[in-house]
Amino acid sequence: MSQNPNRKQVRVWVDGCFDMMHHGHANALRQAKAMGDFLVVGVHSDEEIEKHKGPTVMKEEERYTAVEACKWADLVVKDAPYFTSLEVMEKYNCDFCVHGDDITTLSDGTDCYQAVKDAGKYRECKRTQGISTTELVGRMLLMTRDHHKRRSSIASINNEDLTSFSSNIKHNPEIKISHCLPTSKKIVQFSEGREPEPGDKVVYVDGTFDLFHVGHIEFLKRAKSLGNYLLVGIHDDQTVNAIKGVNFPLMNLHERVLSVLACRYVDEVILGAPYSVDENVLSKVYKVDIVAHGNTPSFPDVNGKDPYELPKALGIYVEIENPSAEITTDGIINRIIEHRKMYEERQARKNEKAKLEEERLNQK
Ligand code: CTP
Repeated sequence: MSQNPNRKQVRVWVDGCFDMMHHGHANALRQAKAMGDFLVVGVHSDEEIEKHKGPTVMKEEERYTAVEACKWADLVVKDAPYFTSLEVMEKYNCDFCVHGDDITTLSDGTDCYQAVKDAGKYRECKRTQGISTTELVGRMLLMTRDHHKRRSSIASINNEDLTSFSSNIKHNPEIKISHCLPTSKKIVQFSEGREPEPGDKVVYVDGTFDLFHVGHIEFLKRAKSLGNYLLVGIHDDQTVNAIKGVNFPLMNLHERVLSVLACRYVDEVILGAPYSVDENVLSKVYKVDIVAHGNTPSFPDVNGKDPYELPKALGIYVEIENPSAEITTDGIINRIIEHRKMYEERQARKNEKAKLEEERLNQK
């Protein structure tokens, strides 16, 4: 259906912290974008968040980059105020503001959206159940300093590790663990994929993409620039556990898929891609022209072979300089473990707030 060219563009405002940007945040942006034509996303600074909510895990520049990489965000406003004023909405010419159906307050208890609510410029989207920054931090706080015991090869698949991770979770009643159950509808909503067109250069990359972060984003951006269609293979939970050991992955396959699909550089994903890049990967989904990988060594496959042996032999393997040694999944976990006390206090405050919110909803 063609749109009336004279129709005024509807501009939507969303704001938030977007700490450890996850698929719940992305889903809020997706829903908000669907309510209009152009999505402006205000992201609060570290200082503003510290004042009203507590410390963040990701620094403001990392959070800005994560939101910019989300395919539904058209414009990111850095250092947006924690209290959403009519002035800020007017400055960016926004018609209304969208927020998830939970209450967000200033440190003194004032509703952050009172002004836009009073002006009739407030709309709600459905909050995604089973995922939050608090839950992600909780998963990491269960880890100890030796969390990154790695294996020498994928051969040592051991389901006991995953089981012990979940029993660990059961033993820690303080921490709410993800009950994220992504449906096929959610995956369809996130994919909005296009097929490669004749002449398109298809680039393939694969990996875990756990706790999707700016390191992944920069890597995918660089990979996409090698061609014009980016296919991403995501390894399943057992494979990741076999390679990375004890507590990994922190996010299950479907959560990891949703985060990757929300990234603007990605065109399509393979759910549960094989660890070694084989003929099927190179030809069955699309004809792959380039296989790219970061310049860090990869673990050998079960048979002891290099997982990139085939693309290397075919001369289609390209190495990409890894964007940053600091921003890795391990690096993020270390930030939390090193500041354990601070994050545990933050968790306690968040859990208390969640309890009050639950009581409020039960009274409705
Ligand atoms: N949001 C959502 N679903 C989630 C988490 C967040 O829809 N599971 C929405 C929020 O309602 C808000 C936007 O994402 O509209 C930005 O949220 P943010 O300010 O980062 O705060 P939180 O709601 O506290 O997010 P989290 O609980 O993950 O820290």
